[in-house]
Amino acid sequence: MPGIDIKDKVILITGANRGIGKAFVLTALAQGAKKVYACSRDEANLAEVLEAGGDKVLPITLDVTNQEQVDAAASQAPDVEILINNAGVGANLDKPVSASASNDEKRMQLELNVNYFGIVKMVRAFAGILNNNGGGAIVNILSIAGLSNFPFAPGYSASKHAAHAITQHFRAELARNNTLVAGVYPGPIDTDMAKDLPLDKTSPEAVAEHVYAEIAKGSEDIFPDPYAQGFVQQLEADRKALEKASAALIQN
Ligand SMILES: NC(=O)c1ccc[n+]([C@@H]2O[C@H](COP(=O)([O-])OP(=O)(O)OC[C@H]3O[C@@H](n4cnc5c(N)ncnc54)[C@H](OP(=O)(O)O)[C@@H]3O)[C@@H](O)[C@H]2O)c1
Repeated sequence: MPGIDIKDKVILITGANRGIGKAFVLTALAQGAKKVYACSRDEANLAEVLEAGGDKVLPITLDVTNQEQVDAAASQAPDVEILINNAGVGANLDKPVSASASNDEKRMQLELNVNYFGIVKMVRAFAGILNNNGGGAIVNILSIAGLSNFPFAPGYSASKHAAHAITQHFRAELARNNTLVAGVYPGPIDTDMAKDLPLDKTSPEAVAEHVYAEIAKGSEDIFPDPYAQGFVQQLEADRKALEKASAALIQN
């Protein structure tokens, strides 16, 4: 699939009010995007990106688990060429989770609803729009936890594994539309989500720059930070050894 440059493109970003999503907005503006639809559950939280972008940034109220809001976003943004599915949740990434704790299933359902079904809803709503606009790209922000279980966050890992699988499916399905479908697999990134994670973290701005450079080359699988790049090397070298090393984190 040919690559797609951010310059002069119309981009829609979910979860654009903070963290990696905000960095995607600001970096797109810095790289000459034509228009950015910045989506947030609460438009009041978009003040900073709206101020940064002037009339190039358009706010959209969007909870990705709400089908009516997803459909309304598609009506508001018929010129989108690049869709970035960034919104995500992952609670207590630093703490061991007991599978028998009474609230675990609720949390797992939330993670599946946002991290997996959110992407499904968005791709269904926007695939036709991208096709009408020449193909474009869908960029799904997944996680290295979607390639091998992260034992502190089993529900999060499962939701990201599901999102990884559906990303592969959409890539196959939408190839006929000339749509690049990229999966992004970050390691620890310096945002609210990972604030208690005791690991070296990469800045969200570096992630955004790396992702835009990779989609310009047509990359399908993107590892945007040194931790993720090391992780995938271990995965490819010995998947089982990596699983055992992760398991040991909650066995000692
Ligand atoms: N940080 C990391 O270490 C890391 C590593 C791997 C992958 N990721 C992935 O990167 C993506 C961005 O995460 P982040 O690190 O930037 O986390 P973050 O700072 O916690 O930001 C999460 C964003 O998602 C939004 N969001 C949550 N639920 C939503 C929903 N139902 N509908 C729409 N938006 C929703 C949040 O909006 P509100 O402000 O309204 O809550 C917020 O804008 C996520 O998919 C995450 O899984 C992060």
